[in-house]
Amino acid sequence: MTVTGHGVNRARVTEIGTREEEEYRRRTPRSAELFERARQSMPLGVASSFQAYDPYPLFMTDARGPRISDADGNEYIDFDMAFGVLAAGHSHPILAEALQYRVANGTCYTFPVEDGVALAEEIKARFGADLVRFSNSGTEATMDAIRVARGYTGREKIIKFEGGYHGHHDDVLVSIQPPRDRMGPEDAPNTVPASAGIPRSRIAETIIAPFNDPEILAAILEAHCGEIAAIIVEPVQFNIGVVPPRPGYLERLCELADEHSIVLIFDEVKTGVVLAWGGAYEYFGVQPDLFCLAKSIGGGIPIGAFGGKRSVMASIETLEGTPAFSASAAGSGIERSTMPGGATRVAHLGTFNGNPLSMTAGLVTLTQILTKDVYPRLHAMADALTAGCQAVLDEFELPGYAINVGPKGCVMFTPGRVTNYRDFIGLDTELWTASFFYLANRGILLPPGPDDQWTLSVQHTEAEVDRYIAVFREFAAELTA
Ligand SMILES: Cc1ncc(COP(=O)(O)O)c(C=O)c1O
Repeated sequence: MTVTGHGVNRARVTEIGTREEEEYRRRTPRSAELFERARQSMPLGVASSFQAYDPYPLFMTDARGPRISDADGNEYIDFDMAFGVLAAGHSHPILAEALQYRVANGTCYTFPVEDGVALAEEIKARFGADLVRFSNSGTEATMDAIRVARGYTGREKIIKFEGGYHGHHDDVLVSIQPPRDRMGPEDAPNTVPASAGIPRSRIAETIIAPFNDPEILAAILEAHCGEIAAIIVEPVQFNIGVVPPRPGYLERLCELADEHSIVLIFDEVKTGVVLAWGGAYEYFGVQPDLFCLAKSIGGGIPIGAFGGKRSVMASIETLEGTPAFSASAAGSGIERSTMPGGATRVAHLGTFNGNPLSMTAGLVTLTQILTKDVYPRLHAMADALTAGCQAVLDEFELPGYAINVGPKGCVMFTPGRVTNYRDFIGLDTELWTASFFYLANRGILLPPGPDDQWTLSVQHTEAEVDRYIAVFREFAAELTA
């Protein structure tokens, strides 16, 4: 018998994991069938590689409030909530009604709509921003924000943190979860592409730093003085479980960015309007130069947004008055901008940007569902879920801890606290997998990977939280029986 951590029996973990995966297959033959069919027409049988997991993903048919049903008619309490999109819950009745009108009255004009103006005003108010622009996804939002930062500063390199995820464009699809043997030294991590097909020239533009370590970052900034356009950061690293910033860390990031005249970008795709009414900006009281939003702001309809300080965002109108412009103006006076080709503003485009469907969805979600008064209850429920899971871990002496930041949390199956990606690699993935299938088979649905976390919505209740804790307790009891 192999025993690890605080007495987890490895053989028992394997036994339960195998048994529960078999049970998963037994309960979901229709999903298996659909998966086989899907593989004939889509690589990995899914529309986004994040949806693929072994042995096959559940195919879903219906969802309402906190519940979702699969193609075999099994119902789950949804704690995944579409990778954290659904702080409003599935098909919130207010949103469903508003969208019925919208669907019947045109969903795409490529002319501006009043709801878009109102939504931009709402986002400005929540995030203390001067200007906002819309896109259709988080990927587009971070891609656009980075281009704006480059245009504004006239510099080309960016800094991203190891373990951070900012979407699937080339600049940031690096060092997401690099393998141990390729990640390089802790104080100078390698830029490891997370995909084939990313040109070397792009990889060279992204410098990697460890999260939560301001000294190493300061040294990297010194080494690349005058080269860095932007630092992009998830204020809480929510793509390696839940890794909060150390106290004072975000403030220090701000200072360092200011000292080096770098645009600080908060990627609030997961945190925005979820951690608090004003996202991480309100929750931590730290204001970046730019922020990116997506996921929850649309209540389940595709949308993205980015915004921030007028001085930076105005690069979309003109580069005149930006550091990029003055740098060249101070020189020969021939080039009007340091941009290649002498471009005089930053392009931000998109056929579906600001479409009426997304604008109405965003406006209704933010002004009628995720209103200021809902956050205390969301936090209380999330704290109760964490406390309940922690009590189970303590009672059965399992190696792990429960953690949440606002309505998002998880159980990290590792005895030590995770402060960055390198700690996260120590996670007991076999134990996590066994728990995933055990819970799913009993109607508790989590995201299909230890790098994601549960998200509570305004439509969850205490009863669902209690059910999660009860099933998790059954799992722990069986594991240690
Ligand atoms: C922090 C963060 N930024 C950006 C993205 C990309 O968003 P999207 O999948 O909408 O392109 C994600 C997606 O999970 C994310 O978690």
